[in-house]
Amino acid sequence: MKNLWIVEEQGFHKEGIADNGNRFLIGNGYMGIRGTLDEFTKEQLVAINLAGIYDKVGDGWREPLNAPNPIYTVLHVDGEKYGVLEKEAIEHTVTLNFREAVLCRKTVFQTQKGNVTFQATRFLNMENPHLIHAQYEVICDFDADVEFRTGIDIDVWDIYGPHFEKYECGQEQIFSVKASIQEEREQVWVLEKTQGAGNETVLKENDKLLRVFSYRAVKGETAVFTKQCAIYTSKDKELAAGNLTINIDDLFAKDMEAAYEKEKAEHIAWWEEKWNTSQVVIDGDDEAMCALNYSLYHLHSIAPRHSDSLSIAARGLSGQTYKGAVFWDTEMFILDFFLYTEPSVAKTLLKYRIDTLDGARQKAKDYGYQGAFYAWESQEGGFDACSDYNVTDVFTGRPMRTYFKDKQIHISAAIVSGIMRYVEHTKDYSVLEEGGIETIVECARFYYSLLIKKVNGAVYELHDVIGPDEYHERVNNNGYTNRMAKYSFEKAYELLSNVEKFSESTQKKLAEKFDVSALKEEFKDAAENIYIPAPNEEGVIEQFDGYLGLEDVSVEEVRKRLLHEKEYWGGAYGVASHTQIIKQADVVTWLTLFANEFSKEVLAKNWEYYEPRTEHGSSLSACMYAWLACINGYPEKAYPFFLKSAMADLKGGGKQWAGLVYIGGTHPAASGGAYMNAIHGFAGVSFEDGKIKVNPVLPPNWKSMKFTVSYQSKQYAIEINGKKSTVTEL
Ligand code: BGC
Repeated sequence: MKNLWIVEEQGFHKEGIADNGNRFLIGNGYMGIRGTLDEFTKEQLVAINLAGIYDKVGDGWREPLNAPNPIYTVLHVDGEKYGVLEKEAIEHTVTLNFREAVLCRKTVFQTQKGNVTFQATRFLNMENPHLIHAQYEVICDFDADVEFRTGIDIDVWDIYGPHFEKYECGQEQIFSVKASIQEEREQVWVLEKTQGAGNETVLKENDKLLRVFSYRAVKGETAVFTKQCAIYTSKDKELAAGNLTINIDDLFAKDMEAAYEKEKAEHIAWWEEKWNTSQVVIDGDDEAMCALNYSLYHLHSIAPRHSDSLSIAARGLSGQTYKGAVFWDTEMFILDFFLYTEPSVAKTLLKYRIDTLDGARQKAKDYGYQGAFYAWESQEGGFDACSDYNVTDVFTGRPMRTYFKDKQIHISAAIVSGIMRYVEHTKDYSVLEEGGIETIVECARFYYSLLIKKVNGAVYELHDVIGPDEYHERVNNNGYTNRMAKYSFEKAYELLSNVEKFSESTQKKLAEKFDVSALKEEFKDAAENIYIPAPNEEGVIEQFDGYLGLEDVSVEEVRKRLLHEKEYWGGAYGVASHTQIIKQADVVTWLTLFANEFSKEVLAKNWEYYEPRTEHGSSLSACMYAWLACINGYPEKAYPFFLKSAMADLKGGGKQWAGLVYIGGTHPAASGGAYMNAIHGFAGVSFEDGKIKVNPVLPPNWKSMKFTVSYQSKQYAIEINGKKSTVTEL
């Protein structure tokens, strides 16, 4: 039987290097190691991507740091280098067991005298997120002189680097590289130790600090090398004022091979425990079960469990693309998985937003608004990494003025939604007391300061915005945005109306900052009177004022109009801008989130109208179409969209390059979207007043589904067989 927890690649394919870096990624929230091969360097996009630490060089974009790579390893046999780039492998397999989160590669090279087998295994410690573990085996089927070279490659892959300007190397028993940045004074320490067969010497080769284990291999015998590495940064308490405050010898066991086995067993047990509360078992569809749990593997791998205030970047820990920044993806697409399987992580994600409230206040102020306007591309402290010129024109090579940062105001409502969904789901009010209520009030104040009322108008409007569909910039009354602003007013009003239920200090803080009763009035008025576009006679809701008057052409026709395959579809002259072709689910996202406010006919009508007009140019799009199709009772229609989401990283492909800039990486929002499709969509799970409702619409080939959810501090097992379901408290 096929193992549903294994992803494997047979044979070496050069063109698959970038995709495989994502597909075989391992991560532990603190760092992500791209699934590149041991002998690869920055040309093959090797990266040990670090969470929450950034740098900017000159005029380049501010991006997260990649650490020097301490798992660089290459084999020399009888004086010749053996790596897949130099030598043809007669056998090559890369295997990720994502239930265990262990990555293995096995390569067999043919030499004139016989075969050499090289195997490598790596995993990341989940309990101590600083640690990397690896083990290697070398077998020659002839007697040979072998050099096993392994150590730290300090020539780091950067998109807008180089970030490190100074390296201090230590080469005692434990190798160390202290890489420092001038401008922001950040530091990254990498420690490495390897034990193994043969005589060990040190080799400094270009940008590599290597150990060379030289030995005479005896035909058929296995030589084992065991490695452990540790990474610390100036963001860690262990690295204070430029010095490590821990005893590094304590990190490395005397007998590394024995310690490795123990760590590996504990690692597998750690993951097994995670799967107990998060796996989704699907009987009848192995492909879907594998793809879905593989998506969840990625979400687990990037969960910032080492912090209590950190979020997840749009490309996870797969590199520097999208500037390592946090988008609305986290609250609207990723959060539910953690809410239902590990609420403490959900809280950490939201605390990051609460702790970056000052940044959001500053952004609102800079644009002349009140309250909190969250960063479209958020980095530390809420700094908005989104540039005013976020796309480069392929024809002129000139930066194009884009308005994502200025006009995608729906971001603040995503924060409101995230916090409120957490509170409603967990009944843990601490997040509100710890700044959540202030955050929500500030987001509502932001929208209030943006409301427009025409001289003779009866309603409030929001003008000059960008909705989820980024191809249409600076539009008026984007339905999604208006409804989310209304939601923010409603929630802020609800909280302020119950202010006496909060602690005295919270009440005092609110009273000091705001005129609570005046705000209540304003929010109530705004919630009641903000304009929400209604369905027209055909039942279609206009995405924004004037949308239905735009040219109505097919996606294919618009694609044909491209003069260059990498041309941007949006912006002033974009091929989609003057048509009804949209980048991603927009009205459909709104209808999905507020489905109970619409008739089934309206929901179905809008799905039918918008789907053919959607390019699905964002990995956030498919899951919303899948979910709404389920709400409408059409699991067959939902299915391909669900699979597209679940397979975003498994299948790879997609857009990888924009000109010379790599834009690929993993797609956590699609992974989270696939989970929402499975749980809310196919399983039809919803939570209301302390009760779990299950209203399944399984795809025809799904015989049953099993999973557990956490709800209001209790664990429940949910089992669905066809239309029947059981919910059991555990
Ligand atoms: C999408 C945004 C998304 C961002 C990061 C963009 O292409 O249009 O909605 O937040 O990617 O995933």
